Order: sequence, then structure tokens, then C-alpha cells
Amino acid sequence: MSTSIIGAAVNRVDGPLKVSGQAQYALDHKIENLAYGVGVPSTVGSARVVRVEASEAQHMPGVLAVLYHGNTPPLYRPAERLEHSRAGEIRPPFEDDQVYYYGQYVALVIANTLEQAQAAADKVKFEYDVRKPAVLLSEAEKPQGPPRVHSSRGDAAGAFASAAVKIDETYTIPVEVHNPMEMHATIAKWEGDKLTVYATTQGVLNEQKVLAEVMGVPQEDVQVISPFCGSGFGGKLFPWPQSMLAALGAKHVKRPVQVQVPRSLMFTTVGHRPLTQQRMRFAAAADGTLVSMQHDVVQPTSMVDEYVEWCTGVTTTLYDCPNVEVSQSLVRLNVGTPTPMRGPGAVPGLFALESAMNELAEKLEMDPIALRLKNYAETDPGSHLPWSSKHLRECYQRGAEQFGWAKRNPKVGSMRQGDEILGWGMASAMWDAGRGGATVRVRLNADGTARASCATQDIGTGTYTIFAQVVSEKTGIVLDKVQVVLGDSTLPPGPTSGGSTVTATVLPAIAQATDQAVQRLLQAAVMTPGSPFFAPNGTQAPKVAITNGWVHETDKPWNSGVPFDEILIARRLAALDGEAKTEPDRAAQGHYSFRSFGAQFMEIAWDPGIARLRVTRALTVIDAGKIINRKAGTNQVLGAVVMGIGMAMFEEAIYDPRTGKPINNNFADYLVATNADVPKLECVFLEYPDYHLNEYGARGIGEIGLAGVAPALAMAIYHATGVRVRTLPFRVEDAIGGERATIV
Ligand code: MOS
Repeated sequence: MSTSIIGAAVNRVDGPLKVSGQAQYALDHKIENLAYGVGVPSTVGSARVVRVEASEAQHMPGVLAVLYHGNTPPLYRPAERLEHSRAGEIRPPFEDDQVYYYGQYVALVIANTLEQAQAAADKVKFEYDVRKPAVLLSEAEKPQGPPRVHSSRGDAAGAFASAAVKIDETYTIPVEVHNPMEMHATIAKWEGDKLTVYATTQGVLNEQKVLAEVMGVPQEDVQVISPFCGSGFGGKLFPWPQSMLAALGAKHVKRPVQVQVPRSLMFTTVGHRPLTQQRMRFAAAADGTLVSMQHDVVQPTSMVDEYVEWCTGVTTTLYDCPNVEVSQSLVRLNVGTPTPMRGPGAVPGLFALESAMNELAEKLEMDPIALRLKNYAETDPGSHLPWSSKHLRECYQRGAEQFGWAKRNPKVGSMRQGDEILGWGMASAMWDAGRGGATVRVRLNADGTARASCATQDIGTGTYTIFAQVVSEKTGIVLDKVQVVLGDSTLPPGPTSGGSTVTATVLPAIAQATDQAVQRLLQAAVMTPGSPFFAPNGTQAPKVAITNGWVHETDKPWNSGVPFDEILIARRLAALDGEAKTEPDRAAQGHYSFRSFGAQFMEIAWDPGIARLRVTRALTVIDAGKIINRKAGTNQVLGAVVMGIGMAMFEEAIYDPRTGKPINNNFADYLVATNADVPKLECVFLEYPDYHLNEYGARGIGEIGLAGVAPALAMAIYHATGVRVRTLPFRVEDAIGGERATIV
């Protein structure tokens, strides 16, 4: 009974705090003497700032300071970014007089109230030496030098030339933005040289490290607090300028300062998924055996970073093909710096890869699942390592059965249902399964509660609940009595919420820390006069255990013992701690390739009479190891599917080529999937534990649910309408022969 909570559908332990409004998000913290900072964004895409006219703003009511390049010493650059170019380099604000993109912060106004700061921000004037910005892909200078990514096996070009069946298509995905519900926001407070920061972040420790670097103070002098995060989708992996501005501003006015990124600037200054243009040249023998795959990506980044959206990783890994060549090139545009967004690299990569597979299947007159099974990779074809655990074949089979794939008529437009034509599509999903190091402290308290703590954070995914589940599983203490404390950089070090790795990372540390606390408790039980299990010197101590939160003799029923807190009280202890640091066994992990897999099946209904297209069914089958919390896990996958519907059907940041302004920088014009766009979603977990990753057999599920949605929907749309969707998002005008009103 005590193990059943692992894998159960457990309500989030932090749910009541959220629905009752007690959960403290970044700006909910009540800070005494708080001043308000409002960032002033550039209104041009490329320029030199010639002059800043701040005197009017400076003299407005309540204004404490107007800061900009020229009246503030430059901040330091984050050192870490030098080594991790995939993460993107984030330049501190006000570094020089250059404007690299529309919406770059060029000044910060600080005032006693938000309204005063906002009013004054509108009055800061800039004289610019404006250059024509390069905003569209067609305006970028051609990539210089060798590609940023290049790898090959066999002779892809040669095999392509002589192959029986081939396709050569290009797939384009526009800029997509994270735009979590809680906008980026930071409160910074200095006490002497020590900085306290209330932020909304996916990594309290990374935020601490980067802010320490940028402000030039020791890391231990910065504390980052983020108990709740209104999600991030990757956009909050790294601190963006608002955090640096809050720290700078607070130092300057010697008061705590908050800076929030307004919704309109959530489209410019806090990262995005970059545009990608992916050319796929695939070839197969007449029986469907893949003989060649070439995948070439061109992708813009900003003027000041080296961010590579690693789309080609999936192509070297997912299918068994002897001749593969991939390359990625960067071009520069006057846009903000891109950053990882849910399933970075793999999600756009799989749109191209899985779309190409579906197009190839049609050319081969082969079922798309049969084509995938024909080229199934029994080992990782990139690394030649065995998979730690792979059940993708069963994902296809299970999905096909549940979806009714056998009833498919592959002929375009053939599956009528009343006035509508049904379209069916499928795609594979894949995402890395990683694990890092974590330290967790677990405390058993004399009031009968337990407490688990770690400097990781819950970004809405259910991390609080996982901690409580493991402590409860190990001790039998009910969930209500397990307090979980996360989101504070002073706690024992834990992982960033990124890459779908937190669960696999923290489980072993929570388990070991709990075991250690329990061992100390059981020791106290036999060593402490007044404990019913006390064994004085020279006598044989009874064997004791903890069940349902009670300490008892191992061979007697649990309720013959006492609640665990009675042992602590007998020993006059407030609490007993266990603390464990766990790391993956890197040497052992080097023997396997770790991935999660899935298969996604989509149905759309197309009514040509009124040009209406709706997603009507969405089935996802996931092989991600043991699922620790079925409810939170299902939420993760279904939420990702909703995001995938948005990616396929709606999402696109559109820039004005004159200024680089995203003209749809609001939720009225940047469309996302809403309830009316989303049918009942189904999610199946296969649940084969992956014990090579951790003793719970759990991999991650934060990202994989998004991976195959867009290519499956593109196939479904083609099946119903005969229109190929190679440029996202789908527009209904594509299906009625109209002209696409979009700018690429
Ligand atoms: Mo994820 S893009 O690693 O938050």
C-alpha cells in the first residue's frame, strides 16, 4: 500500500494555494518601499543612439531616476554564455549606443508608482541614427564560413542521385513566442552588497549565477526566490534584461525596484523560437528502405548571439539509414535573441523530418506507419549505442489500434462524413531523456509533518507534488503532512527546469534523503529512553520500520507502534534531517542512448462548403518510462498537444520589415489555440520503466507531447484537402486557393 502513490493520479499539492490566490508569483511579494521601473524600448530596428533627452521625464512627479547608456556604467557580461552558445548570448542592457532590434531596452525609468514611471517613460526621447534593419530572411546576408552544424555518415548525395524514389522539399516554420501567462518580472532589493531577487524563473540557481556575474558580486551574495512560476516554456531558462535592469535600478535608487516585461515586449526582448527553413532530400528503394537523408537548415539569429536551433539531431537518430548528411547555417537579422522553446531543435526538426517521411510514404504508396517500421532503428544509428529502453514500435501499434488507423482510405478527400471530409495524419515523437545532479534535504518534524527542500522550482509541471509523493511513499506520511519547499537559491542545489529532466534528476535524491532521515529516526527509536523500542546497553535492539508514518517492530503490524513524532519527542528533538546528493553514473550511462518516444495521431474535419477546418481528434501514445504522477503527467502531454495545435494552425510572429516591430505583439493578433480549437485529447502512457536512467524508471514528459503534433496535422490537412502544409501555420486560404497574406 505504501508504494501505490508512485504512479497514482495525484492532485497537485500546491493546487489549493493556486486556486485560492495565495501562491506568490514574482510581483505578488509585498516589498516595503518598493519603487517601480518601466523599461523604455527602442522603436527602431537598427540604429545608433545619438542623444537621449531625459530631462522632461526626470522632472515628472515621483520620478527617481532615468537610466540609459551614457549615464550608467556598463554591466558585466554573463560568463557562462561564452561556453554555451546554444543557450544564446544575452547581452546586458545599456552596454553601448547600438540598437540591434526593435523593442531593445534603451532606458529605464524608476518612480514611486507604476503610473508615474509609465507616464515618464513615454516622455523619454531618443535621437537615432537609423539604419535599414534586416528583418526578413530574404534580407539577411548569406551565411559566411562553414556551417555551424555538420555531420554525415555514408554518402548521402551519391545515394540520393541513384535512388528509386525521392523527395526534395523545404519546410518553413515562422518565429514562435513562449508568452507564458505570467509575464517576465523581477523585484531586486539590495542590502549593502547583498542582492535579493524575486523572479519568475525556470532556474533559481542559474538566475543567481548570471545576476552575480552581471552585477560583479560573489554568487553567495545573491539570493533568488521564485516559489511559483506562471510557466516558461523555455523562455525563463535564462534571466533576460528585466532582471538585470531591476538589479541595476535598485542599486542606483537605493530602494527595491520591480521591472515587469509588458505583454507587447514579450514578443521581442525575452527570446523566441527562431524561424527555420529546412530543406529535406530523402530517398528510398521501392520497398521503402531509406537510402539517403539530407537535412539542411538555415536559421536566423540576432546580431549579438550565436543561438543554433538544433533541428538536425532528430534526423541522425530516429531512423536507420546508412547515408545521412545534415547541416545548419546561421544568418543574422535585427530581431531579439532566440532561445530554447519547448522541445528546442527537435520540434521544428521533427516537423520537417516527419512531414518528409509522410510525403515519401505517399510517393511509395506505402502506409506511413509501415514506412517507419521498415526503417525502425533497433539501436541509435548516430552513436551505435543500444537504447536504454525503446518501445516506439508499440507506440505505433497501440496508437493505430486505438485510433482505428486500419479503416484509413489513403486517397485524398476520400473519407467523407456528411458535409465534411475527414483527414488523418500521424507522426513519430522523440525527445532526449536526460538526468543531472541534485541535492535534497528531507526533515522529519516533531509535529508529525515532514519537509523536503531543494533549490529547484516548480514551473507548473508538478514538481512540488513529485517531492511529496516520494517522501510519502518512503514513510507513509500522508501528502497533506509533507511540506515541500522549492524555488529559493539558498536551498540545497537542484536542477534548472529544462529539457524535461527534473523528475528523473530529483527522484533519486529525494528517495535517498528520505531513507537517510528514516534511518536516523529508527536509530533514535532504539536508542532513546522513553521510546517503546528503547534497548538499553547490552540488550538486543528490536528491528524497527516506518509504515504509514508509524514506527513499529518490523515483524508486527504498523499500528502496534507509535506515530513517528513520538520518537522525536521522546528524544527532545525538533527534527531529524536526511540529505543526499545524487548524480547519474556517467560511465554507466555512456553505454546507452537515452530518448523518449511517442506516436501521435490526428484527425481534422474539413467542410469545403464553408471553408471550415477543425481538429477533431488527437491521440498521443508516449513511451517515457514510468510515469510518477499520472494526472500531472497527462496534463503535461495534453498541454503540449494544445501547443502543437497552435504551432500547426495559428502561431506566427509577423515583423514589419520597415522597423522590425512584431506587428501582432498581442494576444488578439498572435493567435494561439483556444478551447474552441481543441477537441477531446487522449493520452496513453506505455510505462516501461527505464532503470538505466534512475531506480524509479522515470524519464521526462515536459516536451515530447509537442513533438509530432504539427507534422501529423499537416498530413491530416493534406489527406482531407490535397493541400500540402510545408509552411506553418496552416491558413485556411491555402485550402481554398487563396493567396497567403503573410511575410516570410
Ligand atoms: Mo525547456 S525549452 O528546456 O524549458
